[in-house]
Amino acid sequence: MLKDVLLGRIRDRTAKVGVVGLGYVGLPLAVEFAKAGFHVVGYDVSERVVGALRAGRSHIRDVAAADVATLVRAGTLEATTDERRLAGVDAISIAVPTPLSKTRDPDMSYVLSAADAIKRNAHAGMLIVLESTTYPGTTREIMQPRMEEIGLTVGEDVFLAFSPERVDPGNPVYHTKNTPKVIGGITPACVELATVLYESSIEQVVPVSSPEAAEMVKLLENTFRAVNIGLVNEVAIICDRLGVDVFEVINAAATKPFGFMKFTPGPGIGGHCIPLDPHYLAWKMRTLNYKTRFIDLASEINSQMPDFVVSKVAKALNDDVKPVKGSHVLVIGIAYKKNIDDMRESPALDVMRLLEERGATVEYHDPFVPVYREDGHERRAVDLAPERLRRADAVVIVTDHDDIDYQMIVDNAALVVDARNAIPSKKCRPSRARVVTLTGEVPPAAGARGAVGRAELEAAAR
Ligand SMILES: NC(=O)c1ccc[n+]([C@@H]2O[C@H](COP(=O)([O-])OP(=O)(O)OC[C@H]3O[C@@H](n4cnc5c(N)ncnc54)[C@H](O)[C@@H]3O)[C@@H](O)[C@H]2O)c1
Repeated sequence: MLKDVLLGRIRDRTAKVGVVGLGYVGLPLAVEFAKAGFHVVGYDVSERVVGALRAGRSHIRDVAAADVATLVRAGTLEATTDERRLAGVDAISIAVPTPLSKTRDPDMSYVLSAADAIKRNAHAGMLIVLESTTYPGTTREIMQPRMEEIGLTVGEDVFLAFSPERVDPGNPVYHTKNTPKVIGGITPACVELATVLYESSIEQVVPVSSPEAAEMVKLLENTFRAVNIGLVNEVAIICDRLGVDVFEVINAAATKPFGFMKFTPGPGIGGHCIPLDPHYLAWKMRTLNYKTRFIDLASEINSQMPDFVVSKVAKALNDDVKPVKGSHVLVIGIAYKKNIDDMRESPALDVMRLLEERGATVEYHDPFVPVYREDGHERRAVDLAPERLRRADAVVIVTDHDDIDYQMIVDNAALVVDARNAIPSKKCRPSRARVVTLTGEVPPAAGARGAVGRAELEAAAR
């Protein structure tokens, strides 16, 4: 039986494994398979990605260049832009992007093109696992028909499963190998083969009864995050109106040892997952005439947070008798979350755009993002120097990377709007700066300039 032959090859590591899409998800996975003893062929449409890997360089921060170089030199990890190389592999994992279209519907073009490339190169005795986050039904509706069109019966000739990726870029504890992996197959043989393949490289595998269940697991996980972040962001807005420090409330609530999970408010959500994935579910449910109210509400609140931050900046500048128009604003941290370089869907871009629309001059500092391009324009980070902080009318902390000297910021800036509660968390004591958080102000250190500085400004304006 084809299944038994493939099982044997996976177990004795003579199976060749293909990974389609070598980004944040695909590259760590390819490295784990190669480390487990498989010969891995990574296929990507990007010449840049493949060129870098062939030269032994890693374009993903969480994957050590030394690992890539060692595996590439040993010939166990290959990278190619030639889809025909897939014809020679026994198992394929697909990790291509699943973004949203301009109308916020699923953009399945990458999955479709990867599925077509696999269809052109598939053969009997192959295992294919889709990892890209997607709506329930994708594996059965997109992958299975393509196999049947070339005369391969799923469960007998080829084996098809869905296994959501859970990688959390920048997480120092959990990475591809020690994050449990859920797998749902079209048939029991499909799930068995996929389980044995992934058990070779991942510490814990969790089989479920169908690809739809596995697809839904990922959407539940990320909808759970989007909704809870939406809730806590609304709590921040509520606490602001009440004059209560939201972080004090959250930290005290988090001392409850059961029934509460801590989420923190911020400038909005970003990355390739939380802002997008719930919309895959919302879209699917619209086709079934059901409105996903929690998803819609969370999305509405989360996407308003950049406006909330900018309104804080405007109010704080106003207190200093300054309009936003003509003010010089320095944004600190523009990656979508701390300690990573990923700019996808970053709320910092909205914060900067909204400030510029109001007439501010905006610069940014981010040690992880020295340069980025948006709509054909290139922007470069500026250094974080005391004189620059002193020149700025407002410094806005959007992303709280650890590798930033926050004490230097409060020692030199006049006004800091801290959307992440970074200054209190890092135990900095405001000296020169007035520090405004999402729901209040950080008290200045004894003898600090703080309010005196504002009085001077007001006097100067009069
Ligand atoms: N980034 C994350 O933190 C994360 C976490 C969990 C799940 N996911 C999901 O994993 C999937 C991949 O995300 P990612 O962050 O790795 O994306 P990515 O953009 O980092 O990488 C995708 C790679 O696929 C390549 N590619 C695009 N079309 C291709 C094709 N037709 N054939 C071969 N290669 C192709 C691109 O060149 C790119 O290198 C998405 O569905 C995403 O939602 C991402």
